[in-house]
Amino acid sequence: MAHSRILGTGSYLPANTVSNAMLAERVDTSDEWIVTRTGIRARHIAADNELTSDLALRAAESAIEASGVDRADIDLIIVATTTPDMMFPSTACILQEKLGMRGTAAFDVQAVCAGFIYALVTAHGYIQSGMAKNALVVGAETMSRLMDWNDRGTCVLFGDGAGAVVLGASDEPGILHAKLEADGHYQSILNTPGRVADGMIHGSPYLHMDGPAVFKFAVKALSDIAARTLAAAGMDKAQVDWLVPHQANLRIIESTARHLGLPMERVVVTLPEQANTSAASIPLALDTAVRDGRIQRGQTLMLEGIGGGFTWGAVLLTF
Ligand code: UT7
Repeated sequence: MAHSRILGTGSYLPANTVSNAMLAERVDTSDEWIVTRTGIRARHIAADNELTSDLALRAAESAIEASGVDRADIDLIIVATTTPDMMFPSTACILQEKLGMRGTAAFDVQAVCAGFIYALVTAHGYIQSGMAKNALVVGAETMSRLMDWNDRGTCVLFGDGAGAVVLGASDEPGILHAKLEADGHYQSILNTPGRVADGMIHGSPYLHMDGPAVFKFAVKALSDIAARTLAAAGMDKAQVDWLVPHQANLRIIESTARHLGLPMERVVVTLPEQANTSAASIPLALDTAVRDGRIQRGQTLMLEGIGGGFTWGAVLLTF
């Protein structure tokens, strides 16, 4: 079976930033509470006329350029998003059109904050089986549109953005081992239950979360899957150069790193200035650390994420 390897990374953040102090003018919160409980200081919010596919386009263009792959040689587009432009067509098809491409398979993956991991592993499977040669894998979100801006328990946590990679067939191993898991019994602790029918939205169109329950579940699931992924690959934590985790809460990231026995110097953290960008957070963190030179070719990375569903997964790879 063919190997698959990340050939290039890209990302994009909307220009508009909102600080904790700005949110404190609107809801009963404070910079101190948000920083202490989450590690978040600011978030980027898309402009009214900026859609998820627009953020995806900027990240995708940058990843394609970094990869050196000709657009004509990309034969698969997967977009992980919880905030698609519309019910249908998929954001992946809209992105394909914006990229001026035609004919490539294109579809969305919906696994909320674990979406990028699910999309990456799906693309890996396509490449391994020979069904694709070069895949554009994007995580893009406008989570701000699911926020109840009067709910201090959620609106301080999320932001907008996009990250992308080009994953290509390779003679050298890239993705070494991956695991995807889910448990639908936990859907009530994190969801946006609204559905469209009869020309109306039925149920709440806002994101709802039982924060402490999600926190507890996330720490356990992430620590556990990272350890099992390493074991399945026959590798030791000492061989991991960088942990690139989903960015939801600094305390969750620190706790996962502690369980894994990794010092924080080997963990990529972009949360303070970006908040939780759901499916975009892992590729955003990856691209940030690639472009600032922390992540180097040949290093071993552990990517892991968790989101509503519940869904979670981990990917161990040689960059
Ligand atoms: O992407 C995956 C999904 N998301 C996550 O992984 C998030 C997981 N959960 C968390 O990150 C944390 O649970 C939160 C940051 C959401 C909340 O932190 P917490 O330490 O678990 O706080 P809490 O929900 O237990 O609330 C403690 C207090 C409550 O007040 P009382 O009842 O003690 O008087 C809340 O009402 O903090 C209050 N509170 C706030 N106060 C100021 C909740 N949100 C805020 C706020 N500002 N923004």
